[in-house]
Amino acid sequence: MDTLIIKGGMPLHGEVTISGAKNAALPIMAAALLTPEPCTIHRVPNLTDVRFMAQILTWLGAKVSFEGDTLRIEARKVQGIGDYDLVRKMRASICIMGPLLARLKSATVSLPGGCVIGARPINLHLKGFEALGARVNIDGGYVHARARKLVGTEIFLGGRAGSTVLGTANVMMAATLAEGTTIIQSAACEPEIVDLANFLNAMGARIVGAGSPTITIHGVKELHGAEHEIIPDRIETATYAIAAAATDGEITIRGSNPGHLTAVIDKLTEAGVRIERRGPDLKVRRGGRLKPVDVTTLPYAGFPTDAQAQMMALLTLAPGISIITERIFESRFMHVSELARLGADIELEGPSAIVKGGRPLSGAPVMASDLRASAALVIAGLAAKGTTRVLRVYHIDRGYENIDGKLRALGARIERVSES
Ligand code: EPU
Repeated sequence: MDTLIIKGGMPLHGEVTISGAKNAALPIMAAALLTPEPCTIHRVPNLTDVRFMAQILTWLGAKVSFEGDTLRIEARKVQGIGDYDLVRKMRASICIMGPLLARLKSATVSLPGGCVIGARPINLHLKGFEALGARVNIDGGYVHARARKLVGTEIFLGGRAGSTVLGTANVMMAATLAEGTTIIQSAACEPEIVDLANFLNAMGARIVGAGSPTITIHGVKELHGAEHEIIPDRIETATYAIAAAATDGEITIRGSNPGHLTAVIDKLTEAGVRIERRGPDLKVRRGGRLKPVDVTTLPYAGFPTDAQAQMMALLTLAPGISIITERIFESRFMHVSELARLGADIELEGPSAIVKGGRPLSGAPVMASDLRASAALVIAGLAAKGTTRVLRVYHIDRGYENIDGKLRALGARIERVSES
C-alpha cells in the first residue's frame, strides 16, 4: 500500500491540466452496455475506479480496450448477472443495473453496502425500476430486477437529501429503451447527468431536460454505437484551486469548465481567494489573508459534498470561525480527526463542523479514510510546516489521476513510497 510523503510549506505555482470527470465516466461506461455496437469514449481519466468498472464490463461480456485516455467498449453480447465481489467493492457499479435491465429485461447485482461517508441506500434506484414495470427483490445479498417489458411513466426521485445522482442516471438509462415516455421528477441536475444524457442521445436516445429537475425520456427501440468526450472533472478542479489557496500560491488551471463550479468559486472568493475565469481556464491566487466562511453542501448547483473536506482543510487556515454543514452524507466527517493531528481545531455538532481557524498546521502521520478526505489531508499537508505522511493513499488513486505527479509539477515536495 502506498504512502504520500509531503514536505509542506511550498506555495504551488504553474499550470495544471484537468482530467475527465470520474463521476461522468463511470455511468457513461455502464451506458455502453445498452448497445451491441462499439462505443468510443475520449478523455477517460486513468483511475482505479475506471479500471474497476472496465473489469466489471469485461466480466459481463463486453470487450474493453484503452488507448491513452480513449476507451473502446463493445458489448456485443452481455449477461445480466454482475460478479458479486466485483460489484460490491465499488458503489458506482450499481449503475450497470439500469442498462442491463433495459437491454436484457433482467439484472442481478450484489447489494452495495454502506461506506465510510454514510449509509448510501439504493431505494430510489429500485423505486424507479419498479415504476417502469420491473419486479425487484433482494435475496442472498443480491438485488434482482426483472420485467416482461419496461413501460414509461412519471417517476418522482426525490429523497431525504434531495435528488440522487446515480439513481437518476440508472433510471434514465433504463427508460431509454422503455415503451412510451418517462418523466423523472426531482431529477439530479449535476453536470455528470447532462454528460450522460448527451452520450445517450448520441447513441440514439431521446432525452430532453437533463440538467433540470424534470427529465423526459421518449423510449426508442434500440440504441447504436457513439463517440463521446467526457466533461472535465469539477471536483479535481476545485481540489487544485483550494490547494493553491491553502499554500498561498498562484496557479493556472487549464481545461476545466468554470461554469460547473460557480458555488465553489463563490465561496473561495468570499474566503479571500482571487479567481479569474478565462474561458476554460482559471487563475487562482490567495489575495491576502484568508477569511472564515460558512459552507453548506447541497445538490448541484449548491456547494458539492465532494469538495467539503478540501474546503475544510483550507478553512482551518482562515482566522475566525467557519461553519461547514453537510446535508448530503451525514457521516462525511472522517477527515476531522485526521486534520486535528495536524493541529486543526474543529468541533463536530450534528451535521455541522465548527472550524476555529488560524492556527498554523504542522506535519504528522495521518490516515486516509475515503477519496475526498485523502485530498483534504494532502492539501493540509501541503500547507503545514514539516512532513506529513498520508497513509493508505489508495483511496486517492480512485478519483485523482496522477495527483502526486501533477502536484510535483506545481512545485510541491511530494513523494509516493510503497509500504507493504
Ligand atoms: N439516497 C437515498 N436513496 C437512494 C440513493 C441516494 O436516500 O436510493 C441518498 C443518499 O444517502 C444521500 C443522497 O441521497 O444522502 C445523495 O446520494 P446520491 O445518490 O446522489 O449519491 P450517489 O449517486 O451514490 C454520487 C457520486 C458521489 C457524490 C454524490 C453526491 C458517483 C460515482 N458518485 O453518488 O461521489 O458524493 O453523488 O453528489 O457519481 C466521490 O466522488 O467522492 C463521491 C462519493
